[in-house]
Amino acid sequence: MTLPEGTPEKLSGPEAPAERTWSAQPDQHPVSPTFDELTRQRAKEIIARYPVARSALLPLLHLVQSVEGYVSQDGIRFCAEQLELTTAEVSAVATFYTMYKRTPCGEHLVSVCTNTLCAALGGDAIYRSLSEALGTPDRPLAHEETAGEPGTPGSITLEHAECLAACDLAPVLQVNYEYYDNQTPESAVALVEALRRGEKPPPTRGAPLTDLRTVELELAGFTDDETVAAAAVAGPSAAPESLRGTALAAERGWAAPALPDEPPALPPLPEK
Ligand code: FES
Repeated sequence: MTLPEGTPEKLSGPEAPAERTWSAQPDQHPVSPTFDELTRQRAKEIIARYPVARSALLPLLHLVQSVEGYVSQDGIRFCAEQLELTTAEVSAVATFYTMYKRTPCGEHLVSVCTNTLCAALGGDAIYRSLSEALGTPDRPLAHEETAGEPGTPGSITLEHAECLAACDLAPVLQVNYEYYDNQTPESAVALVEALRRGEKPPPTRGAPLTDLRTVELELAGFTDDETVAAAAVAGPSAAPESLRGTALAAERGWAAPALPDEPPALPPLPEK
């Protein structure tokens, strides 16, 4: 059976075509010198963590973002070369997850939750205020656009986010994936103005604020600064609102029913 060129083959057996892999041909597809020796070394370290090389793709894409501030075509080729995948396979993953950006990002990524609960409690108003504050008088900043030159100090990329798993602290936003809880349009605008001045207001909980590329390197499994890593663990984590149910149960002596020692018998399968 012949498949058209570019069709992702996943067949097995005698008719399955040989698997296509990306092989680096410097004269055909030069990978950018952006990916220096240190980055290549880190890529090898990431790949060595997994029994199968292709499992390393997600952290490898974060490594690319720590270098480029997004995932460029060069970044796609870099991952493909390291993992012996096709560029189509890498692109399919990179374009599926919203954490991988296709255009250059600012020093900071501001993600405003506009999912149901946050939206109802003011998330839409927060997003609108930020897009106006970061845009120009006649054009608010749009989703995934950047105020300032991407990558330069004080530049900010704004995005809508789906539920950030902090509904009890709604409305919330994140800067470089760190939480700022119980926001208002005024507090959110004050926050981005501080970021634009080069300040790093402390998040409500979690690690101290750094910048997007540093966080991307951490997501790839590396940190250049042990004190930052230690502070990330030592910082406030759970909020009182999140622990309220646990505290009430402890006060009142409530406990979940014990699980039976033996799993309950399954009902018989219907006869065919
Ligand atoms: S809806 Fe915003 S954190 Fe869940």
